[in-house]
Amino acid sequence: MMISDSHALFEAAGCAMTLNNTGVITDSKDFVSTAFCNQPVSAFPLLEIGAGFGSNSISALKNGHTVICNDLSKEHLEIAGRNVPAEMLQRITFLDGSFPDEIDLTENSIASILCCRVLHFFNGQGIDKMLNAMSRLLIPGGRIYATVETPFIGNWKSFRPEYEARLAAGHPYPGLIENHRMHDSIAFSNKIPDVLHLFDLDSFKKLFTDHGFMVEQAAYINRQGVFPVECLSDDGRDSVGVIAVKPTN
Ligand SMILES: C[S@@+](CC[C@H](N)C(=O)[O-])C[C@H]1O[C@@H](n2cnc3c(N)ncnc32)[C@H](O)[C@@H]1O
Repeated sequence: MMISDSHALFEAAGCAMTLNNTGVITDSKDFVSTAFCNQPVSAFPLLEIGAGFGSNSISALKNGHTVICNDLSKEHLEIAGRNVPAEMLQRITFLDGSFPDEIDLTENSIASILCCRVLHFFNGQGIDKMLNAMSRLLIPGGRIYATVETPFIGNWKSFRPEYEARLAAGHPYPGLIENHRMHDSIAFSNKIPDVLHLFDLDSFKKLFTDHGFMVEQAAYINRQGVFPVECLSDDGRDSVGVIAVKPTN
């Protein structure tokens, strides 16, 4: 059965709709965002890409970090800004614009980057560009903390056979859905960009090793209690997260 209102479904689950049709925003923590927010404070700032309403940037700020908080949407960042304690405002910079093309930052100037549930809106070429740009911005030894959704989540279930067949055939991007409208079971396609690129654990890890990073931690993330039940996988493989380090040499 096709559900007619994904908006109501997500809001009932406690997620907020983005204001620019780039999916939903959740302020729940997983192992990736927790590690990002709790890392030791260094002399260099942290960068969050696609921060939504900024809950992770604000957690990092409250832990003493200096944070550059980026999102495509100026409206999202205005909402984030309203939630920053006044005495911390001098440690956070809001940068609206599309990463990397519209974002001008100095190379080797960022301690770590958080990018949660954003990379799955880019095809292989777009992800190459994003990861290369992140690598240039990071200091040697700096880390990327990233999450994306998997091909196992419930609302794209009818894509699964195509994904399995492509995986078996050695397709370079088995989770790239050419036309997600064909597989949409919750009327969500009009709330996300045209490109939807889902990753299993191995293919997500490979992105980082292919771009010169060393993967320190990688695991599936169970979104039970965060996403609506209609979006959950059968086995807790809802999202996948990676923490990867830029080599020092
Ligand atoms: C699915 S939401 C995720 C928000 C938040 N990171 C989270 O995990 O809840 C995707 C966010 O990424 C932003 N975004 C998409 N493409 C972007 C880009 N190229 N540069 C910066 N932000 C981008 C959108 O505006 C949106 O706020």
